[in-house]
Amino acid sequence: MSFNVAIDGPAGAGKSTIAKKVAKELGFIYVDTGAMYRAIALYLLRNDIDCENEKQLEEALAHLEVAISYADGEQQVLLNGENITGCIRTEEVGQMASRSSAKPIVRAKLLELQRSMAAANDVLMDGRDIGTQILPDAQLKVYLTASTGARAKRRYLELREKGQECSLEEIEREMEERDYRDMNRETAPLRQAEDAVLVDSSDMTIQEVVDRIVELVKERSVWK
Ligand code: DC
Repeated sequence: MSFNVAIDGPAGAGKSTIAKKVAKELGFIYVDTGAMYRAIALYLLRNDIDCENEKQLEEALAHLEVAISYADGEQQVLLNGENITGCIRTEEVGQMASRSSAKPIVRAKLLELQRSMAAANDVLMDGRDIGTQILPDAQLKVYLTASTGARAKRRYLELREKGQECSLEEIEREMEERDYRDMNRETAPLRQAEDAVLVDSSDMTIQEVVDRIVELVKERSVWK
């Protein structure tokens, strides 16, 4: 049987950075489900589709296929066969992903892909509803969070490092907006599963969080 770790939490909590490192240490596969929602969002943006228009959305979903592959251990996202991994990390795509992922038909489209990956592999899967909906029987669930201030500051420094002009206030505002929508939607809202371990990374280094999760995995498995 495969070993599944579910990591959920708000935007900018460091889920992907940390999950990637933990996966590498344990030899697990890292599955970034946010990237799948971003792939759908990119399709909607490219085709000028209004996700509030149910008919348009349904038709769009019938015309798109999301698939995952790995190159040098890095997850690649394919949209109708095109590798779009490099096109999905923008604020515009993130906001559209947050809006469209509130729609049950969008979530239903990705459910099987996510569950089948976890059934076939030892995975660290991150997202918003992994512990609550996708993998309710995961051997370990982690709810990774940090204060809004700490998350916004990290995102700000990350963007500045890439040479992008940005304002800390604007990042904080957009983050709060996205958190609110992700936590208050009707379908699969972001929340901590009852049996999830809460890790608040506000005052922790990346390595400290990685060590904590590796320790939790080892505690729950025969892993040596
Ligand atoms: O983690 P991220 O920023 O790449 O996710 C983008 C959006 O996708 C996020 O705002 C909400 C949505 N999402 C979701 O609803 N469920 C998931 N399992 C992962 C992401």
